[in-house]
Amino acid sequence: MKGTFPISKFRELETPFYYYDTQLLRDTLTCVNNEAKKYEKYIVHYAVKANANPKLLSIIRENGLGADCVSGGEIRAAIQAGFPSSKIVYAGVGKADWEINLGLEHNIFCFNVESVPELEVINELAGTKEKVASVALRINPNVGAHTHANITTGLKENKFGINLEDLDTVLDKVEALPNVKLMGLHFHIGSQILDMGDFIGLCNRVNEIQEHMYNRRIIVEHINVGGGLGIDYQHPNRQAIPDFTEYFATFHKHLKLRPQQSLHFELGRSIVAQCGSLIAKTLYVKQGANKQFAILDAGMTDLIRPALYQAYHKIENITSEEPIEKYDVVGPICESSDVFGKAVDLNKVKRGDLIALRSAGAYGEIMASGYNCRPLPKGYISEDIV
Ligand code: LLP
Repeated sequence: MKGTFPISKFRELETPFYYYDTQLLRDTLTCVNNEAKKYEKYIVHYAVKANANPKLLSIIRENGLGADCVSGGEIRAAIQAGFPSSKIVYAGVGKADWEINLGLEHNIFCFNVESVPELEVINELAGTKEKVASVALRINPNVGAHTHANITTGLKENKFGINLEDLDTVLDKVEALPNVKLMGLHFHIGSQILDMGDFIGLCNRVNEIQEHMYNRRIIVEHINVGGGLGIDYQHPNRQAIPDFTEYFATFHKHLKLRPQQSLHFELGRSIVAQCGSLIAKTLYVKQGANKQFAILDAGMTDLIRPALYQAYHKIENITSEEPIEKYDVVGPICESSDVFGKAVDLNKVKRGDLIALRSAGAYGEIMASGYNCRPLPKGYISEDIV
């Protein structure tokens, strides 16, 4: 089954562009909120890195989520979209001084700290401002995730977080620094995770760490388990809203919170991926030696996931109902890796046909580049074009 799109309106727009179905986004957010509120003190932040389109950010903020940022630019985007700074968390292995200062000036909810040197700099900068920064320690839990190697983050060899063996030293350090206050523990094991067993592995590790800290008489106010819930790229319409019921229930069942502790989540992909499609126009259909190519006006500069991670995005010819043929679907960029899909079944393609690359709402528009001096793709929400 193909997606439904306002084709005649699309014909009036310059391609390529991102199109976001805001009804689906709103339904997804309602579902997230309903599922999270089944449990006490479950707090959801939206991972801005997945898509910082201001119109989407506003809708997400209206639905009450907090913001998870990884740069000063994202903090600014979140604040501009109206997220209260008391709901902003800030992570990242390489926070520059100006970015830390920005967080301090806005009194953000928490800095997720990834190393001792960073902790020292936050302490120093907070001291200059006569403030006490709220921090959570991002622990590398050494828990694997069954996903693409480039998007696992919670293994020992990854650059992220504080190693478990160093936890005691870091705890001593936090206690000794006057301008930081330990509020929480932060984790993130990877992205596009569909096996709840991976999250169970994380819960078990968090329980062990909490036990260890309890023996040191330390109970933090919050646990943040990051994001990572995956989506069904193969069938964007079958389950357009990810299974948040199972996701939150998994944490409820396996993660032992202490009394009063809140549990924070940082969901990106699962919130915005399915509502977005990249819409491109077919420039040429070219007969190759033993195959045919559909050459689009969108390329890896607009959606880099297939080239970078060999990621699958469902491709549909949304302007043809003619019999299916096989195509290698490629872009115009001067790189052999500028391929969206090989031997893709599409309704017969002709010049001018509109092609949708589905499930592109997360890590699509935001990762676009100007390589080959190409303009960045525009983003439209459904309200813009009715
Ligand atoms: N929290 C932290 C600390 C993260 O590093 C990430 C994603 C998230 C939350 C949100 O994860 P999500 O719920 O979206 O899985 N560009 C890649 C994905 C990179 C993910 C980076 N970190 C892709 O296109 O698949």
